[in-house]
Amino acid sequence: MILPTRIGLTRRGKLFLLVADRAILPHQFLKRMFVTWNWRLVRSSSQYYDLKIGRYTIKLHPEYFHIIFGEWGEWKKYHLPPFALKGATVLDIGAGCGETALFYFFHGVERVICVEPNPDLASIISENLGSNKWNAEVHARSFDTEMLNLDFDFMKMDCEGCETQLLSADTLPACVMEVHDRHVLHALMNKFGLRVANSKAGGKNARSNDFERRQFRMYYLGWRFTRAREKFRETKGLRRLYYAIILVILELHPDFVNVYRARWGRVWEAYYFPDKTDGKWHSK
Ligand SMILES: C[S@@+](CC[C@H](N)C(=O)[O-])C[C@H]1O[C@@H](n2cnc3c(N)ncnc32)[C@H](O)[C@@H]1O
Repeated sequence: MILPTRIGLTRRGKLFLLVADRAILPHQFLKRMFVTWNWRLVRSSSQYYDLKIGRYTIKLHPEYFHIIFGEWGEWKKYHLPPFALKGATVLDIGAGCGETALFYFFHGVERVICVEPNPDLASIISENLGSNKWNAEVHARSFDTEMLNLDFDFMKMDCEGCETQLLSADTLPACVMEVHDRHVLHALMNKFGLRVANSKAGGKNARSNDFERRQFRMYYLGWRFTRAREKFRETKGLRRLYYAIILVILELHPDFVNVYRARWGRVWEAYYFPDKTDGKWHSK
């Protein structure tokens, strides 16, 4: 079990628990404990954690430890298709350190194709593949729609906004994905029949401390971005040029847009499972 290393009180007198150097609220800890009661942190440093889940041990960057620790329960709800994955090949877009590959191996898949453009993370995935003897391969580059021609049965996509590229695809495979933009979501729903399983928002209680102020600012900029894009579509001539310049200025801050969309904006858990014919799911 992964136990808290400290118990403390926030400035407002709320109880918090420190788990792997991050503060979480007691009810969040309890929720995670039910899902992760048999996990073990076998080694931890400021740079990496080695986490043991069942027969697998995975090396994780701390950020990704908190992703797997915080999201495994949600993955069970939203990242599994309604058909058995035993023997299947999964295309994992936004593979991180291999934590979602582990999730799918845990659920019986035969092979995972990991796509992760961050070279440091891609090399951690390679280490994890080697040490766990997973049948997997790593593509250390960004997603592009050519990858939809690879041989796989099911796709998971969580890539901080790269799902936008699916709009230029002709067909969508059986998949689950996080969508980070309302317009992209609606376009994918209209074009392919993508459906929403859940939606969540960040950015509550803005302005109470530095962290929350920054979050508030992200919200504000994100709102500006959405407004500017709407205006850009509606207007013509010089006004259109004005909004185009604003959009370019905002887009020049890729961190802002990614962080805003991925962390502080609304995120939709969506899925697409094509019709069953001949008793089989057809993904292509
Ligand atoms: C939130 S993490 C995913 C964590 C976890 N594997 C999951 O699926 O929930 C998003 C990952 O997407 C990766 N990513 C960002 N842009 C991408 C792109 N254009 N193509 C593929 N992956 C991308 C990031 O480097 C990051 O590791």
